[in-house]
Amino acid sequence: MGKKVLVIGSGGREHAIVDALDRSPQVEKIWCAPGNAGIAAQAECVEIGATDIDSLLRFARENEVDLTVVGPEAPLAAGIVDAFRAEGLRIFGPTREAARMESSKEYAKDLMARHSIPTAAYRTFSDFDEALEYVKAGPQEIVIKYDGLAAGKGVVVAMSHAEAEAALRDMLLDEQFGKGRVVVEEFLDGPEFSFMCIVNGTKVYPLAIARDHKRAYDGDEGPNTGGMGAYSPVPFVTDEIRRAALETIINPVAKALVVEGNPFTGVLYGGLILHRGVPKVIEFNARFGDPETEVVLPRLESDFYELLDAAVDGRDCEPRWSPATRLGIVLAAEGYPGAYRKDVVIKGAEALEGIYHMGTKRDENGELKSAGGRVMMVTSAGADLSEARSNATAKIEAIEAPGLFHRTDIGAKEA
Ligand code: AMP
Ligand code: GLY
Repeated sequence: MGKKVLVIGSGGREHAIVDALDRSPQVEKIWCAPGNAGIAAQAECVEIGATDIDSLLRFARENEVDLTVVGPEAPLAAGIVDAFRAEGLRIFGPTREAARMESSKEYAKDLMARHSIPTAAYRTFSDFDEALEYVKAGPQEIVIKYDGLAAGKGVVVAMSHAEAEAALRDMLLDEQFGKGRVVVEEFLDGPEFSFMCIVNGTKVYPLAIARDHKRAYDGDEGPNTGGMGAYSPVPFVTDEIRRAALETIINPVAKALVVEGNPFTGVLYGGLILHRGVPKVIEFNARFGDPETEVVLPRLESDFYELLDAAVDGRDCEPRWSPATRLGIVLAAEGYPGAYRKDVVIKGAEALEGIYHMGTKRDENGELKSAGGRVMMVTSAGADLSEARSNATAKIEAIEAPGLFHRTDIGAKEA
C-alpha cells in the first residue's frame, strides 16, 4: 500500500524534501504543514504551524500518517519527536535531548571535548568581565557565540579585541539575546563544507557533501544570513577528506551520543572547516541544512522514502547519487537579512524546474508573491560547477522579480 507522509516546515528545505518524496514510487500522499506556495504544487498544505505539536500529532493520528519528517529545528528543540514516539507514531528526527547538539552550543562543545573530536578550542562564560579578560589575553581574531537557539545569527567572528568586546556587551550585558551565556572560541581558518549524515544510533548513512555561502553579498562580504547559495559535490572535499570527516567526526560523535545515553536519530549535520588540511567541527545541526538540502536531494537517484524508513528502523540502505553537480542561488528580498521588502511580485518562475520556494505565497488573485527574506532557491544541474552555475544564472534571467537580489559568485571561485 502507498505510504502517507507528513512533512513539517515551510521553506526551501521542506520543498526539496517534498520533491524527493514525490519521486518515491512508494509514496502515495504527501501533506506539508504549513508549506508554501511552491510546495502546494506537490503536496497538500495544511494550516498547522511547525511548532504546534498537539495539532500536528492529532493530524498525523487522524490521517494515519506512516512517517512524519521534521524540517526546522524549533519543533525538534520543543520535543516533537518525543511527543510522537510516546504515541507510537513514526517520525524522522532527533529527540529533544539529542537535538541539543544544535540547540545548545555548550552541550555540543562539551561532548566533543569529552570524546576528543577535532574542533576549535573554547571556553564558556556568563560573566562579562571574565569573558573580556580571557579574550584580551588571546589573539585579535576570536569567535563569540551566543549559547542558545539563535537561527545562525548569534555568532560574531571578531577580527579585533574591540569587536569582540562589543559582541560580549551585546550578549552578556544588554540581554539583547535573552539569557546571557557565550562560548568564546579559537578562530579557525579554511574553507567550510556541510556534511549531512542520516544517523540512527551508531548507524550512519552519509549524504552527499555540500557547500553553503552564508554571507549576504558577493565576495563573502556583508552580514551572515541563513545561506545565499549552495552546491554539491564540493571539489576540494576529496574522498580522503570525506573519509577522514566520517572516521574522526561523524562516526565517533554518533557513538559518543549512544555511549552517553542520548542516541541520535535523524540528520546529524556537521558544519565542518578544512583547517590546515584537517577537517574540524564548526558546529552541528540536528536537521537537514537549508539551502544545502535543495542541492543535495535533487542528486539522490535512489528512493528517498526508503532511505528515511530504513534509517528510522536501523536497516541497511545505500543511497545512490547522480555524479552531476547541482548548484543553487537564493533570490532574497532587498534588505535581507535586515528589514526587507515585502510582497514582491514574482513572474516566470513557475515554468522552470529545479526551483525551491523558501518564502512565497499567493495573493487573492493567484499571483505569486514573496513572503519572507529568502524567497526562492534557483537550482540547476551541470557536468561541473561552471556549467551548473551558468545554467542556474540563465534560469534567474528568466524570472522577473524587481525587488529581489542574489549573489552572482556562488561556485565561481571553485569552478
Ligand atoms: P555557526 O553558527 O557556529 O555555524 O557560525 C556561523 C559562521 O561563523 C560559520 O559558518 C563560520 O563561517 C563562522 N565561524 C564559526 N565558528 C568559527 C571558528 N571557530 N573559526 C572560524 N569561523 C567560525
Ligand atoms: N545552511 C546552514 C543551516 O542550515 O543552518
